[in-house]
Amino acid sequence: MSYHDHPADYLRLGVNIDHVATIRNARGGRHPDPVKAAHLAVAAGADGITAHLREDRRHISDNDIARLKAELDRPLNLEMAATVEMLKIALGAKPNACCLVPERREERTTEGGLNVLANTAALRDFVSALHDGGIRVSLFVEPSARVIEASAAAGADIVELHTGTYCELVLDGNAAGAMKEASRLHDATALAASLGLEVHAGHGLTYDTVATVAVLPQMKELNIGHFIIGEAISVGLEEAVKRMRAAMNAARTPARNASAAAT
Ligand code: PXP
Repeated sequence: MSYHDHPADYLRLGVNIDHVATIRNARGGRHPDPVKAAHLAVAAGADGITAHLREDRRHISDNDIARLKAELDRPLNLEMAATVEMLKIALGAKPNACCLVPERREERTTEGGLNVLANTAALRDFVSALHDGGIRVSLFVEPSARVIEASAAAGADIVELHTGTYCELVLDGNAAGAMKEASRLHDATALAASLGLEVHAGHGLTYDTVATVAVLPQMKELNIGHFIIGEAISVGLEEAVKRMRAAMNAARTPARNASAAAT
């Protein structure tokens, strides 16, 4: 089935290729090439590619973004901080979507969601500037009702729900905590969809944790990076993408059957 003929409830997989660039940058030079990885991921079933252009350029570079946009025939989701510098780059590169994330120089990865509550007005202006450039806007947020309502008020098209806490709780073997967080993700997804927001999720997802979010019927896209790139060392990138796709499909199928049975 081609990218354009999927059913309305299809769950997209966006593969985040940041850490191919991390490995490249460990030695400088050009190898491995994140754009080549993006092509392999698409060939294996990725519906889009995500890349985070950080202020410190620790992995993805400006040139990577330009090449991804020029070469890919799949949507590019540019993750970035809501800064003047990034706005200029986004308006020039014209990715299909921008996912606004909080960014602190010293963090190892994106920690926590955007503080939409404290910055609703500023974010509204930022979102509107991206809309003027024809770019859809996603806000990376915690699964909290107040934050989701503020995201809608800021004019976002999409919320990407932070799954990091859920994944950490699973890794820690904290079943009760994980169940509570899964329930927050469930409620946040339903609320966001009811407000007309498209719902995505990501951060820390693995073959073992992906089902919890893949099963949610209003979920439209998962963005997954570190685990897939790590798995690629053992099984190759194409196989890792295929296995993740299969785990997502397996989680999705019973939900589809149940909703068909209910109608
Ligand atoms: N979504 C967002 C907004 C992110 O910042 C990241 C990490 O760059 C991801 C998804 C992917 O997270 P991971 O690499 O842990 O799969």
